[in-house]
Amino acid sequence: MADTTPSLFEKKSFVVIAGASRGLGKSISAKLVEAFPRSSFFLFLARKKATLEAVASELMTSYPGVQIGSRTFDQGNLDQNIFDTLFVDVLKDYGLKVDDFEQSVIVHNCASVGDVSKYAWEMTEVTPVQKFFEINVTGMILLNSAFFKTFGQMKSRLIVNITSDNAKIPYPSMSVYCASKAARDIFFRVLVVEDPSIRVLSYSPGPCDTELLASVRDSCSSQELAGELKGFYSEGKVLSCDTSAEKMLAFLKKNTFKNAEYVEYYDPL
Ligand SMILES: NC(=O)c1ccc[n+]([C@@H]2O[C@H](COP(=O)([O-])OP(=O)(O)OC[C@H]3O[C@@H](n4cnc5c(N)ncnc54)[C@H](OP(=O)(O)O)[C@@H]3O)[C@@H](O)[C@H]2O)c1
Repeated sequence: MADTTPSLFEKKSFVVIAGASRGLGKSISAKLVEAFPRSSFFLFLARKKATLEAVASELMTSYPGVQIGSRTFDQGNLDQNIFDTLFVDVLKDYGLKVDDFEQSVIVHNCASVGDVSKYAWEMTEVTPVQKFFEINVTGMILLNSAFFKTFGQMKSRLIVNITSDNAKIPYPSMSVYCASKAARDIFFRVLVVEDPSIRVLSYSPGPCDTELLASVRDSCSSQELAGELKGFYSEGKVLSCDTSAEKMLAFLKKNTFKNAEYVEYYDPL
């Protein structure tokens, strides 16, 4: 039978990657720059300007002609004006129009792991708990809505929600991180019930060799989890970011994943 699955990689796209400066986001950025038509535009977001610009510059050298913009953006800074103006300003600054594009794509890769030195009952202070959810949940929701306020009229819209097995498994020391990942997953499941024409891949990348995973291994309060992660490193079970990003790309290329349902690195294509 002929394959009738529509390709996500044939359309000229406006692609946003939140948390593009290092770790998994850097690898995802490289894979997507390679996969989308060269006429597409990429917007990289993170807090540190220099690392963000270094990633953009490296990719513009490897893929001559590709257009990449970068913006410093703190997902935990809940200033209404930032969300209202971010995408409008980028269009203006790069001389672009929404109508120039056939597809809008946003990758929600940015996340913080929170304070893994504390157990759930030790989450007693307002500010760190509030700040954590502002980055991982509230800021992500507002960024997503701001993006679709500007780019929502396109027929083809794709969201990649980088999730984690922490959304399903209650790892000790990781209460707020687990709660935030579960919150993001159900948010996108609601979104596709409300508008099933939006494609959402909720991709759990597996244990990847990043600062985030190393910080859990080195500072989590649970000796059991620390030991498990140390074992992952010593037994070579930690994935390179490129390997996991490649699998994410393969799921997108096949485009048969169930909308907004949890998909993980270890799943068959
Ligand atoms: N590594 C793993 O094993 C693993 C496993 C499962 C899921 N994940 C998920 O994969 C995603 C990427 O994780 P990672 O391991 O690559 O993490 P990472 O190495 O810590 O990178 C996080 C990225 O997000 C940006 N970022 C962090 N806080 C931000 C903020 N407040 N505002 C804007 N940008 C911010 C960082 O850049 P700046 O610091 O410059 O802002 C960086 O680009 C996360 O959603 C994580 O939950 C990772």
